[in-house]
Order: sequence, then structure tokens, then C-alpha cells
Amino acid sequence: MTKAVTILPLKKPVRGEISITGDKSISHRAVMLGAIAEGDTVIRGFLYGADNRATVAAFRAMGLEIEEGFEKGAKTLIVHGTGLRGLREPDDIINALNSGTTARLLTGLLCGQSFFSVITGDDSLRTRPMKRIVEPLSLMGGRISGRVESTLLPLAITPSELKGINYSTPVASAQLKSSILLAGLYARGRTSVTEPALSRNHTETMLKAMGADITVDNLTVTISGERPLKGIHIDVPGDISSAAFLMVAALIVPESRLLIKGVGVNPTRMGIIHILKKMGGDITLLNLKGDGFEPRADILVSASNLKGINITGTELLPAIDEFPIITIAAAFAEGSTGISGAGELRVKESDRISVMRGILRGMGVSCEEAPDGLSLEGREYGTLGGGSFNTRGDHRVAMSLAVAALGAREEVTIEDGHSVDVSYPGFFTALHEISRTGK
Ligand code: S3P
Repeated sequence: MTKAVTILPLKKPVRGEISITGDKSISHRAVMLGAIAEGDTVIRGFLYGADNRATVAAFRAMGLEIEEGFEKGAKTLIVHGTGLRGLREPDDIINALNSGTTARLLTGLLCGQSFFSVITGDDSLRTRPMKRIVEPLSLMGGRISGRVESTLLPLAITPSELKGINYSTPVASAQLKSSILLAGLYARGRTSVTEPALSRNHTETMLKAMGADITVDNLTVTISGERPLKGIHIDVPGDISSAAFLMVAALIVPESRLLIKGVGVNPTRMGIIHILKKMGGDITLLNLKGDGFEPRADILVSASNLKGINITGTELLPAIDEFPIITIAAAFAEGSTGISGAGELRVKESDRISVMRGILRGMGVSCEEAPDGLSLEGREYGTLGGGSFNTRGDHRVAMSLAVAALGAREEVTIEDGHSVDVSYPGFFTALHEISRTGK
């Protein structure tokens, strides 16, 4: 299914208030950890996008009972946890579809099970590197085999006894860290993971809330194996990575003012706010609620004259999924922007450096690609060219292009706009909503 979406230049400001759908990373973890906890886990505000539906389907295939409903307008799941050893062998191959989080975290968890399983994904996911997880999981005693010397999906996992290890990851990746921690839940002794820099910490935070024996010391997380988890109540905050598209829309469209409500503001995800503020963005956090295990706030954004900046890999890590929309903010900023230290972006849902370079150039932005980043020259609002673009099935590229289209001179067609369902179902409705309220 491909759905072409055409967006016209926006001639009025972006205004009003909007709530954002639930956080994708937290929604995945709530199902995965709820599945192997004892008792029920109630997940309110669950993100029902394609990636998260893949996680739900995977656990249902392993016998997990999950009830679905709505509570006060928010999608709510009740996961009837089976305990660490209660899942059963799936009858068929598990398909993680486009979801790297499902594939990598689940592989860690599957290594600890007493049954055989095979996991695969869509065309994009089957090209994404799995060596990074296969290596440490194998050191723990995991028995994994797959394509190209077990570096690509599909991966087949045979039951084995796991033992704890101390592992330093070559890249700062929450998927890698979490995969090892999930295997660590099934390992004899302690497992510790040290990262070169802190990636998003939702797994550690949720494991702690569920009663795991887990400690965090700077960049090292240590977990004890074979300890039960208990089900909890989780209120999923809005996804800051989805809010980022609306934030940039409000910043670039003149005279805009938008309140985005209930957004997760975990410090390991706040990079987008820091970067946009450094570019001169007028962004204020209101109603900050730090209770519960994941903080949230309302974010007020007003149109701003953005300026180009240099962004390092360290600054980008807590905004790793926001690279495509940051390049769009930069395309509307005064002067040049350089992004470096971002080689990981080549192995996301698409090669985001090359795909964004193609789109930006196609819209008339002068843009140079480097092995680990991009540099580009900003243009004035209403001067970018239009056209028809293929976004390589990458949801975040599609949404970034949609925002750029608001400030273009001519209409823009996104040939494969259906991909937004991966992380932000309802994105086009939300964009329409905020664009229609302005005068
Ligand atoms: C995610 C971690 C990040 C991010 C992805 C979601 C997670 O990937 O890009 O969209 O939920 O753990 P890496 O850990 O590979 O950087």
C-alpha cells in the first residue's frame, strides 16, 4: 500500500493546542517488560502505530494475553504478565516489520527463553546491522544464527543457558543496551553494560519501577539475573520525537504559536529542545511534572528567526531520531548549519544522511553530504521549490518533508506518505488541525 499525500504551502500561522500520541520507545518497553512481569501491567496512552503493533503481535504469538481498550480517550492496554518463564514457543516466524526496537530488544529477550524462535523484518529492517547485538548476546551464551554470518535478519534463536557479562558497547545505542539488559534478566549472575555516551534510558527506568535489581553508575548499567519483575501502571507520555515535527512547523511558519501538551521530557530525549533553542527557537516548557518515572511537560512554541549552527554527535545523540526534522529547521534558518558525528544515521530506517540530502537538494537547498553528517545553507520562508518525492518508506523523512512543504513555494507530493503510521498515526490530521486554526 502506498499513499501519496500532497501538501500545499501554508499561507497562515500554525495556532492552537494539540496533544501528541504516546511515546514509541516507552510503549514498546511497556509491552515487553509487562509480558515477563508477574501480574498485570496497565499501559495508558499506548502508541498504536505499526512498530508497536508488531511488538504486540509478537507477544501474542508467544501466548501473551493483551486486552485493548480506551480510557479517557487514550488507548489503554492491559498486559497479563506471564512471569519470566511463562511465554511459549511461537508457531511461526516473528515479524518485527520496520521496527528496529522490536527486533533488537526481542532478540535479547528470546535468547533467555527455553524455546526456538526466528525473527525477521521488512525490506528495510533486513538490511540493518544486527552484529552489534549478536556479538554480546553470543558472549552471554546466546545461540543465534542468521544471514551473512549472523549479522542480518532473519535471526534464529536456539535455547541456551545465559551467563552475565561486563560489556562495553562500541556505539551509544539504547536498542543495543536494552537487548543486553533483557538477556541479563535471564542470565546467571550480573550483567553490566557500559556505553560510550548515554543513550535513552527508558529500559533502565522501567525495569527499576518493576522491581528489578538494577543500578546505574554514570555510563554503566548493572542488572541481576533470574529476579522476578512485577506488573505496574504506566502512563505513557507523548512522544517528543513526534512533537518535534509540530515544533519545527510552529517555529518556521511566521506568526505561529502552538501549545503541545503532555510531551515526555526525559533528559535523554531532550536534544531537540536544546538544538532548536540554540538555533534561536522560542520554546518554553510549562506544567513540568516530574512525578512517575517519566517526566512530561507542555511545550509552547512561537515562530522564530532561526539561525544556522554547528551540531556535534554528542548534541545529536539525545535527538538521534530528530536529524531529518533538524535539517528542515536548518533549511529555514539564516546562514549555514553543519551536523557531524552522526554516522549512525546511515543505518536507521533509511540512510537518513543521503535521503535528506537528496530531498533538500530537490527542493533547491544547497547541501553537502559528509560520511558522518551534512551541511546546508538556509533559505527564506516561501522560497523552497516543490515537486514529488520518494521518502524511501522512512516515516520520519516523510513527516519532515511534510513540514518543509508548509514553507515551500509550490506544492509538494510525498509519494509514500503511508509510512507515518509507523510512529505517528494521525500525523497528517494533526498537521491539518494546527494549520487550519490560524487566521
Ligand atoms: C530506540 C533507540 C534508537 C532510536 C530508535 C528507538 C529505542 O535507536 O533511533 O528510533 O526505542 O531504543 P538506537 O538505539 O539504535 O540508536
